[in-house]
Amino acid sequence: NNFAVLMAGGVGSRFWPVSTAARPKQFRDLLGKGETLIQTTFKRLTSLVPAENIYILTNERYDSLVREQLPEIQEEQIVLEPVMRNTAPAVLLAALKIRKKNKDAVMVMAPSDHWIEDEKAFSRDIAAAFDAARGEDKIITLGIKPTFPNTGYGYIKYDPSESLPVKPVETFTEKPTYAVAREFLNSGNYLWNAGIFVWNVDYIIRSFKTNLTEMFQLFSKEEAVLNTSEEKKFVKDNYPAAEDISIDYGILEKEKGTVFVIPASFDWNDLGTWGSLYNESLKDEQENVVLNVRLHAENSTRNIITSDKNKLMVIEDLKDYIIVDENDILLIVPKEKEQEIKSIREKVQKKFGHN
Ligand code: GDD
Ligand code: MG
Repeated sequence: NNFAVLMAGGVGSRFWPVSTAARPKQFRDLLGKGETLIQTTFKRLTSLVPAENIYILTNERYDSLVREQLPEIQEEQIVLEPVMRNTAPAVLLAALKIRKKNKDAVMVMAPSDHWIEDEKAFSRDIAAAFDAARGEDKIITLGIKPTFPNTGYGYIKYDPSESLPVKPVETFTEKPTYAVAREFLNSGNYLWNAGIFVWNVDYIIRSFKTNLTEMFQLFSKEEAVLNTSEEKKFVKDNYPAAEDISIDYGILEKEKGTVFVIPASFDWNDLGTWGSLYNESLKDEQENVVLNVRLHAENSTRNIITSDKNKLMVIEDLKDYIIVDENDILLIVPKEKEQEIKSIREKVQKKFGHN
């Protein structure tokens, strides 16, 4: 009764222009592994969950990408969202579908675009989380040792001296301010939320009923149509009315006494930005990451340089830059401004109507 739900509806706009609204990063081979991120994620999960129990939640515009890249997945395992409403509505819909199949199911919710090196350690931690959640009113998170005051993550407060492998969580704080994040980091009592959660579906549905009551009513009013040929129409008609909120704000921050954390024993990177991809990629002798480029570099270091057409590039005296040649776009931005790529993309879109 193990199930998995892959979140694959994000746009990955800080990875523009490789990640675009038409083809977000989870459907790209960002790491040059010969498979896309969602394919790697799917494979990683199949050691714990049978393929027929893996659900893909994504926007309707990515329907054909999912089918192409994961041909093992049956139509009823794909939920197509007509509009973006963040992760909470997607999770609730998936949980309702899964509970109808198996009322004792435990499920892992996993982002489709993360980098995880040690597959065995990942499997061990998730298996432990499944065991902890089975039949219990518990939400299990995976915690990552924080290394800097990242304001884009959730922070999990726990007691590091607690000897239980599955540790009680005192508070969950999503995306704190920089000052608060720094305080958390310095205290030593916090872990980053990896964005991977495990729970039994019955409990998470009850949590929605308590914490996001309207959403619960919206999706559970016609539970009979789920997993039938009428489901698609139901989703299309009702999804837009759901609140736009993430599982982190909508559920995790509100649960009290039911949240637990397993400190992850695997290395993790959410591949949120070009800098994070730089960190996980092989570097040349000048510490440049060079992906699909024939490079001549003089006095240039710590750059990440990629092309979709194996371009010959020549650089001199260039340090800590992101250079991305993709389709008809060439992006050149200092690494320290990687967070701004999202807003740069929006400006370019307005000005040139680019995707
Ligand atoms: N199906 C679907 N629909 N998936 C979505 C949607 C949506 O509308 N929006 C985002 N996703 C997917 C993304 O593709 C990603 O795989 C995952 O859900 C998480 O969304 P992000 O937008 O990347 O969340 P975040 O990075 O701001 O924060 C989350 O992840 C952090 C770790 O990477 C939170 O869980 C944080 O607490 C956590 O630290
Ligand atoms: Mg993210």
